[in-house]
Amino acid sequence: MSDTHHIEVYENAKELAWAAALRFASLAEQAVQEHGRFTVALSGGSTPKALFALLSAPPFLGSLPWHAIHLFWGDERCVPPDHADSNFRMTRETLLSKAPIPAENIFRIPAEDEDHQRAAANYSQTIEKFFTLAATDSGSEMPRFDLVFLGMGPDGHTASLFPGTDALQLNDRIAVANFVEKFNAWRITLTAAAINHAHQIIFLVAGEDKAATLKEVLEGEYQPQQYPSQLINPVKGTLSWLIDEAAGSLLTNSD
Ligand code: 6PG
Repeated sequence: MSDTHHIEVYENAKELAWAAALRFASLAEQAVQEHGRFTVALSGGSTPKALFALLSAPPFLGSLPWHAIHLFWGDERCVPPDHADSNFRMTRETLLSKAPIPAENIFRIPAEDEDHQRAAANYSQTIEKFFTLAATDSGSEMPRFDLVFLGMGPDGHTASLFPGTDALQLNDRIAVANFVEKFNAWRITLTAAAINHAHQIIFLVAGEDKAATLKEVLEGEYQPQQYPSQLINPVKGTLSWLIDEAAGSLLTNSD
């Protein structure tokens, strides 16, 4: 692991979620002190649910600077925001409905738009406007999120950067529409370039079913088409892997 990457192993998913909540709180406090706001791109799926449940209850609920926290998503399924598969719906149920985050601080991906390219372009423009980014002749200037949370699927995908999909190459944009053949479905996702410009990138990975893939991603050959999580390599920030013992059970070295 280079000095900008490190691995932290926690006994189980509960301890992992607690560690992630403490890291979120510490980074939020630091960011708000330094520049008056904390910008976070959240991941979807099931792993973050335990984290969001902690953040939306004491002691975090009453101590986080919610007024200064600005939420984005790393990816979204192309479904309405109240659909069972929606990452936004999962976040609303576990966090947004309980934490006093101002509505204007929530930047949902408009993934229900049947014009998927337009949805990606609109989300990219929302981010460009929020971060006052310039459009350059080689594509968008990239946002520097204070924190990007990521998960990893058993196939090595992260966000909606799936193995062998077109989005893996589209690094001149902030967000893109990505067709995922195995689901026969479209997703909207931040690109690896947008993720890699973040100050802090934290993978949360738990469960035995991730162990073999995590070993390949962290210790195997560099094969990002097969293991897109390997594309995540911070330009100037720090990458942390917060994992539980089950997910890390096949690793040969970790902090
Ligand atoms: C999504 C997520 C995705 C997720 C991984 C891990 O939209 O599904 O953003 O990238 O983080 O699939 O999901 P689990 O946490 O459910 O294992």
